Amino acid sequence: MNILGIETSCDETSASVVKNGHDVLSNVVISSLKEHAVYGGVIPEIASRRQLECISAVVQESLERAHLKLKDIDKIAVTLNPGLIGSLLVGVSFARALSYALKKPLIEVDHIKAHLYANFLKFNDAKKESLKNVGPKLPAVGLVVSGGHTSLFYLKDFKHFRLLGETRDDAAGEAFDKVAKILNLGYPGGLAIDRLAKTGKPSRLSFSGATLPGFDFSFSGVKTAVLYHKRANEKDPDFNVANVSFAFQESVVDSLVKKSLAACEKLKVKTLLVGGGVAANSRLREVLSQECLRHKIDVFFPPLSLCLDNAAMIAGLGYHLAALK
Ligand code: KG4
Ligand code: ZN
Repeated sequence: MNILGIETSCDETSASVVKNGHDVLSNVVISSLKEHAVYGGVIPEIASRRQLECISAVVQESLERAHLKLKDIDKIAVTLNPGLIGSLLVGVSFARALSYALKKPLIEVDHIKAHLYANFLKFNDAKKESLKNVGPKLPAVGLVVSGGHTSLFYLKDFKHFRLLGETRDDAAGEAFDKVAKILNLGYPGGLAIDRLAKTGKPSRLSFSGATLPGFDFSFSGVKTAVLYHKRANEKDPDFNVANVSFAFQESVVDSLVKKSLAACEKLKVKTLLVGGGVAANSRLREVLSQECLRHKIDVFFPPLSLCLDNAAMIAGLGYHLAALK
């Protein structure tokens, strides 16, 4: 069963062919990010215009890389929401038209849940990045950490995701991007902070955000704390951007790790799935791996290329949603 996935929820235009819900035959992702960087954030109008221009070529390329023709596609899966409305419209309209013309079923997929599905994908080309452990066991707790969302789910199966908690203000990735802007590290800032924090030293400097009960998160306080710290100290010769990055990242990672482990404990679950752009963060991967080992929890992160937005996760989850109907 070959599923063609289409993803256009933010600045990326992506198309992928996934076989039987797991084997990634192709995954083409192009991004208009460079055009947005000068503005310090994604400009929806630019994103949707670029998507309109290239969607057809991206889908074609995904078929060619999979060595397939349109007639070999069994179903089409597309990101329905959440995302930028103009961008979503490009992908959904294209997918609906294709489904109608080919007389192939269309499956509408939730972008946030699909981020967790990235943990179940594998590349069948051994030369490419591949997962060590394919097929995490369900039920699981899922932590989605992206530029737009930070949510904890309980996953009974691929159709039943129960929201346990989410951010009440900024998403984790959004906080990384805003702090990077405060520290003049460019946009998007997650990777820049991740890299710089490696050269930062643990010091007395620490930033704490609001501690919320239950499984909700808050990251806007820690972001503001960084802003005030910079304003008060940037002229001080000891002010060090790497140390500030380190302390900020520790605070975000600490909150994500604690809540994820607490959710696993409360729900008596031994599998933790992580997904979304911030799942690429090296410190989050390190601390969560150590802590899960200590608590005998199997933790899964997608390969780096599948942490960020991609259509393979849409095609993969789409396969299961169609099967569970
Ligand atoms: O999942 P994604 O591609 O887009 C959304 O669905 O929102 O995530 C993008 C986010 C950005 O905020 C970016 O700064 C962050 O992921 N990000 C990182 C890292 N790489 C990307 N954050 C922290 N550390 C990283 N290494
Ligand atoms: Zn995303």
